[in-house]
Amino acid sequence: MRIIGSTGTATQSVTRDSSQNAGDAFKDLGSKVGHLLDLGSQKIPLSEIGSLLAETLDNLPILSPNTDTPNCCYERELLFCDPKGRFTILGLCWKPGAETPVHGHRAWGAVGVVDGKIGNRSFEKVCTDGEPVLTQTGEIIAGAGTVATVDQDPGGIHALFNPTQKPAFTVHIYGMDLSEDNCAVNIMYAQQGASN
Ligand SMILES: [Fe+2]
Repeated sequence: MRIIGSTGTATQSVTRDSSQNAGDAFKDLGSKVGHLLDLGSQKIPLSEIGSLLAETLDNLPILSPNTDTPNCCYERELLFCDPKGRFTILGLCWKPGAETPVHGHRAWGAVGVVDGKIGNRSFEKVCTDGEPVLTQTGEIIAGAGTVATVDQDPGGIHALFNPTQKPAFTVHIYGMDLSEDNCAVNIMYAQQGASN
């Protein structure tokens, strides 16, 4: 996972923003990502997409978790689907203490922290006695304004978590069509030993 930038300047208050303006902000971001991909290079311009997300974070609305969701849960919301099916933008609303399983991605990705703080634990697959085992290689805590890019599996195996007692909101751009199943990008791993 590569950190693009950390501005730490987000100042919006946490509200569930379902207004037309909220939808327009994500649609505008999606149009700009689509334009970068339209430029026609064979190579995915991941660092440019990360930079675009970093420049946009301060202008994105904040979505908060539903109040009836139990603590330690997180919610995924589909925000934009590329009409050509090349990428999807998701919003993740994090309750205090929420944590994902260890996972990799079936596609490239860019992640931005819009509000709150999010932790990332990195893992790598190593062979022990002929068996693949996941070993933690690092941990960071990222504040609002931070953007990171992640490679398609087997690079970038990680788990995200909310280390605070406050909600957090992150925006994720993944290089595949998730309109049918917004979890389809994930390759899940057992905590001990790789399952895929
Ligand atoms: Fe992830």
